[in-house]
Amino acid sequence: EKRFSVATQRYSTADKEEAWEEHQIRKATMKFGSKNKTNVSDDYQFVFEDQIDVIKESVMGGDKFDCQEEIASEKSRAKRSAYEALKEERKKLPIYPFKDEFLQAVHDHQVLVIVGETGSGKTTQIPQYLHEAGYTKDGRMIACTQPRRVAAMSVAARVSQEMGVKLGHEVGYSIRFEDCTSEKTIVKYMTDGMLLREFLTQPELDSYSVVMVDEAHERTLSTDILFGLVKDVARARPDLKLLISSATLDAEKFSNYFDLAPIFKIPGRRYPVEIHYSKTAVSNYMDAAIVTTLQIHATQPPGDILVFLAGQEEIESVEENLKYQMRGLGTKLDELIICPIYANLPTELQARIFEPTPKGARKVVLATNIAETSLTIDGIKYVIDPGFFKMKCYNPRTGMESLLVTPISKASAMQRAGRSGRTGPGKCFRLYTAYSFQNDLDDNTTPEIQRTNLANVVLTLNSLGKRMAEFPLDPMLSKMIVASEKYKCSDEIISIAAMLSVGNSIFYRPRDKQVHADNARMNFHTGDVGDHIAHLKVFNSWKEANYSTQWCFENYVQVRSMKRARDIRDQLAGLLERVEIELTSNPNNLDAIRKSILSGFFPNSAKLQKDGTYRRFKHLQTVHIHPSSGMAEVIPRLVLYHELVLTTKEYMRQVTEIKPEWLLEIAPHCYDPKDVGDSSSKKMPRGCGLAL
Ligand code: CDP
Ligand code: MG
Repeated sequence: EKRFSVATQRYSTADKEEAWEEHQIRKATMKFGSKNKTNVSDDYQFVFEDQIDVIKESVMGGDKFDCQEEIASEKSRAKRSAYEALKEERKKLPIYPFKDEFLQAVHDHQVLVIVGETGSGKTTQIPQYLHEAGYTKDGRMIACTQPRRVAAMSVAARVSQEMGVKLGHEVGYSIRFEDCTSEKTIVKYMTDGMLLREFLTQPELDSYSVVMVDEAHERTLSTDILFGLVKDVARARPDLKLLISSATLDAEKFSNYFDLAPIFKIPGRRYPVEIHYSKTAVSNYMDAAIVTTLQIHATQPPGDILVFLAGQEEIESVEENLKYQMRGLGTKLDELIICPIYANLPTELQARIFEPTPKGARKVVLATNIAETSLTIDGIKYVIDPGFFKMKCYNPRTGMESLLVTPISKASAMQRAGRSGRTGPGKCFRLYTAYSFQNDLDDNTTPEIQRTNLANVVLTLNSLGKRMAEFPLDPMLSKMIVASEKYKCSDEIISIAAMLSVGNSIFYRPRDKQVHADNARMNFHTGDVGDHIAHLKVFNSWKEANYSTQWCFENYVQVRSMKRARDIRDQLAGLLERVEIELTSNPNNLDAIRKSILSGFFPNSAKLQKDGTYRRFKHLQTVHIHPSSGMAEVIPRLVLYHELVLTTKEYMRQVTEIKPEWLLEIAPHCYDPKDVGDSSSKKMPRGCGLAL
């Protein structure tokens, strides 16, 4: 009976959870204004208004398209060896005719800004050209940075194929938690963050002959910081070649920053793209995207579809819904191959988006912003652009970082549309009105450096003690791991760190089994000291079950996330060895474990108020326990949290109960006995910021 009451209670918080998710979307959609639209399919008739008959006919098994010619050419192509074929393909890229001119320019100038449309061959070809021209002869490497992990991995895989070598040998990649390079490596794709880290160990980047900062237009935080560092290195090392490459035309900015470095333009080749706007504002862009996809599939000639969505959750939900819809349609439509792509997607699934679509089928790629410029997928003829992306925002007043679904800029909208016109004329369906495009969208996106928390970067740059810089984690997690040596629980702490690094995708909560899922989740909370310990229990139970997939299934845990956590944990164990921290286990001493966590996260503490809300110490800011936390109903007096997220309220995610005396023991420079002990006290402690 008790279980039942827990279940119903949980259920009501579950509703809450859904409500703010929805609210978040609605908030974002509001900007595009939708007054009285409720029926999604009504919104969407605009796209093919004049083609309703065609839809019917095609759904009923009407005309099939003639593609005999394409089949024949496909067959003859398959006869040639893959390598030869790739060689031919390379020659067709827009950059190819400019190869010699480009190499001459690199020869003549130390710093060069390169501009060329997405797909022109910058990322895959330039490092190869430089390699062929002898820039790796002395064993030094060509580095090419990417803002995204997935891009670094997939491009490295592609280039290794083009060069006919094994991935990880001559061509490799390096991303957080994964180093796929070897002694042999001479072309290295890496995230911008990883190159930033390499500065800690080799300030002059001695192992590189060329550094190419790719996708510079994205202006990620790491890229912006790299600009400053590589500029200095270039001055100190005249033999280093520096390439800044960008997909957009605002290259003068980069040129100016690098002392008027010359700009090398690769003329683009682009086919016309027809743009369709929504006639009225849409109320739910995910539903709209689904309807539009199905309409394209039913009515339009062959060609793959690319849908831009704002994150893993959205992609998964659209994927599930599309599959459901397709099942409902049975054999009325041709096969629709649904391929998701986002940063946390396992590598083997990522490769699927590049596999050629079989004849008679159509592929729909559900992607985050990553497909805007970083990845080029051949065969895309239709783009569906809801007009949103997830932007990381930092509010210096509250000290809070949040991911907000935000309208894209005009520049992004143009870039997205362009993805459909690479190999032939394309069509782009914008799920917003022409008026919105003109009046609601900014011209460009604000660079990350202007809207993010710089604390982590500053800490990385200061490289806080030698030991911590070794960890590819943010400083708070690193500090927690280093502290675990003292509390003799490094074994437990690296499991927790790994689980936290995976993010919020550990638990799986299918709509029709929410009660079961919540019960399963609460099983890990016996004892109720916090979400961190619950994470540890999840990991250990999975380990005891021999890392079984079935176990994950039974416990509503995502096997993908667990495998990633296991990988990360293995690497952290390796790193512990490198910094000579002994792997010690102290599983029953939950206080020791919590103290280690607090050593890293002491700035993230909050105290219960009389009205049931929490208040952060330094900021006088009211916060709440996230309803998905196991602590939401325990309501401890004093807590630490992993992160703050802003949805409808400011929520603490991953919450653990702590004791007041621990704050005084661990961070005496920040906390005052009066403040932590007495809940009626109005005085707040001296500022403790992040100056560890
Ligand atoms: O960097 P840029 O956008 O200028 O082009 P790229 O990434 O070098 O891509 C050039 C071509 O390589 C694309 O048009 C794709 O056909 C191919 N490519 C691929 O097939 N798989 C990848 N992972 C990356 C590129
Ligand atoms: Mg590129």
